[in-house]
Amino acid sequence: MRELLVAGNWKMNGSDAVSAALVSGIVAGVPEGSGFRLVVCPPFPYLASVAGQIAGSQVALGAQNVSEHEVGAFTGETAASMLKDVGCEYVIVGHSERRAMYSESSDQVAAKFQATQSAGMTPILCVGETLEEREAGTTETVIGEQLDAVLSATGIDAFEPAVIAYEPVWAIGTGLTATPEQAQDVHRHIRARLAEHSVAVAENVQILYGGSMKGENASGLLSMPDIDGGLIGGASLKPSDFLAIAEAAAQS
Ligand code: PGA
Repeated sequence: MRELLVAGNWKMNGSDAVSAALVSGIVAGVPEGSGFRLVVCPPFPYLASVAGQIAGSQVALGAQNVSEHEVGAFTGETAASMLKDVGCEYVIVGHSERRAMYSESSDQVAAKFQATQSAGMTPILCVGETLEEREAGTTETVIGEQLDAVLSATGIDAFEPAVIAYEPVWAIGTGLTATPEQAQDVHRHIRARLAEHSVAVAENVQILYGGSMKGENASGLLSMPDIDGGLIGGASLKPSDFLAIAEAAAQS
C-alpha cells in the first residue's frame, strides 16, 4: 500500500507572521490516523522558522525550487545541501510555473532532481500538459518527454524514492479541476511508463494530483487507484482548507 502525501505549495505568498500562523494552524489540526503524510513548502526565507515550528509534528518540510549546482558563484540560487541543512525533506522540481516563466528546460529539471537526491532529499517532480496540448491529443507525449528527460539522466532506480506530481497546467490556479477519471487516466499512464523500466519501482512511486484540488473534490480524486495524494497551491494557504484535504486523505 502506498502512503498518501498531501503537500502544500505556498508559492510566493505570505509573510513571516502569516507563515507562522498557517503552520501552527496546520500542526494543531493534523487529522488522526495513519497512511498519509503532510508536507508544507513555504517560501525560502521562512523555511528555517517553519522547520522549528513543525519539529516533532507529523508535518514535513519541502522547498519549492533548488539550484542544479552544488556550490559556488550562482548569485541568488540555493543549493540542495542548504535546503537539507535547514530541515527540508522534499523539493518541488519542474513546477510548470518554473518551466514556463523561468524557461527551465527538462534537462535542467533532471539536474535539479539529481541534486535533490544527492543531498538526501526526495524530489517532487512535476509534469503536466497545457490546454492546447490536451486539446491536440498530445498529453501522453508531453508527459512522456518530461519523464524521459529525467529517466535518461538518472535511470529508473532514482525513482525510489521519488514523488511525481501530475499537474495539468490548465487546472493550476484556475478553479478547473481534472475529473477523477481524467486524472486517473494520466496517473495510470505515468505508472505504466515507469513500469516499462521497473514494475517494482512503478508500484512504489507516489503520484500526486495537482490543479485546483480542494476539500470538496479531494475525496473523489484520492479514491482513484493511481492517485496517491495532492500537490496543493491555493487551498494550502488556509489551515482549514489544507486540513480538509488532509482529512480526505486520512479517510481514504
Ligand atoms: P492550485 O496550484 O492548487 O492553486 O491549482 C497547484 C500547484 O501549482 O501546485
